[in-house]
Amino acid sequence: MGAGQGTQSIRLARAGHQVVAVEPDPDMRAVFRAALTDQPDEVQARVILREGSVGSLAAVTGGVVYDAVLLLGVLMYLPASAPVLTELAAHVAPGGFMAVAVRTATSALWRPAARQDWQAALAALAEHDAAQAEGRDMRYINEIGTPARADDFGQLTAAAAADGLELENWYGVRIAVDMAELDPPPPSDPGQLAALLDVEERLGATDPYRQLGQLAHLILRKTDGGAWPGG
Ligand SMILES: C[S@@+](CC[C@H](N)C(=O)[O-])C[C@H]1O[C@@H](n2cnc3c(N)ncnc32)[C@H](O)[C@@H]1O
Repeated sequence: MGAGQGTQSIRLARAGHQVVAVEPDPDMRAVFRAALTDQPDEVQARVILREGSVGSLAAVTGGVVYDAVLLLGVLMYLPASAPVLTELAAHVAPGGFMAVAVRTATSALWRPAARQDWQAALAALAEHDAAQAEGRDMRYINEIGTPARADDFGQLTAAAAADGLELENWYGVRIAVDMAELDPPPPSDPGQLAALLDVEERLGATDPYRQLGQLAHLILRKTDGGAWPGG
C-alpha cells in the first residue's frame, strides 16, 4: 500500500514473491511502471500494479488476504494511524505479517538536535509538549518540506495489538547516515558501502541506537484470524 516508485515491490518480485502494489499517485505509478519495464519478464509477471489508496483497499483486492502487507513510509502523511492499521490488518492472513515504517516521536525530536539545528530542535521540543498536552500526535516538517505526523511507538503497537497484530521485532532505519538534511550520495567505494550497510543493519537492530533512526520499521504478526471491520 502506497507502493510509490516500486522500490520494495520490485525487490520482493525479484526475490520470487507475487506482489499486488497499490498506489494512488499517477506520476508514481508511471515511474514504477518504467522501473518494472527494465526487469526480466518473469519478475514483471509477478507484479500487479493497481490504482488505489488507504480507505478503499478492499475495492482493489476484493477482500483477498496476503502473507504480508507492507505500509512503508506512508503513515506519516495520513491524519491518523489506528484506522489505517485496522483496514490493512483485515488483509493479513492468519500467521502473516504487516510491515510498517513510521516516523516516531522519539526520532522527530532527535533528528534536528543531531543535526545541530538548535532552533528546529527547540521547536520540535515545544511541539512535542503541545501534542502531549492536547492528546494528539506530534507534527513535523520533513526533509523535503512536507508537513507530516509522528507516531508514539507505544500507542502504535497498542493500536496494532487491538487489530490482532503483535509486535514481533522492529528496526531503526538510518541511524548514522542521516545527519544531513538531504540524502548524501552513497560511498562510491563498494567496500565502504558494504561496511556502511553492515553498521546500519547492526545498529538498527540494537537498543538504544534503533530508537534514534529516521524511521522505525515494525514487523507485526497476525496472531488470530481477525475480522473484517464491521463484519
Ligand atoms: C515516501 S513514499 C513511500 C513509497 C514506498 N512505500 C517506499 O517505501 O519506497 C509515500 C507514498 O505514499 C503514497 N500515499 C500518500 N497518501 C496515500 C494514501 N492515502 N493511500 C495510499 N498511499 C498514499 C504516496 O503517493 C507515495 O507514493
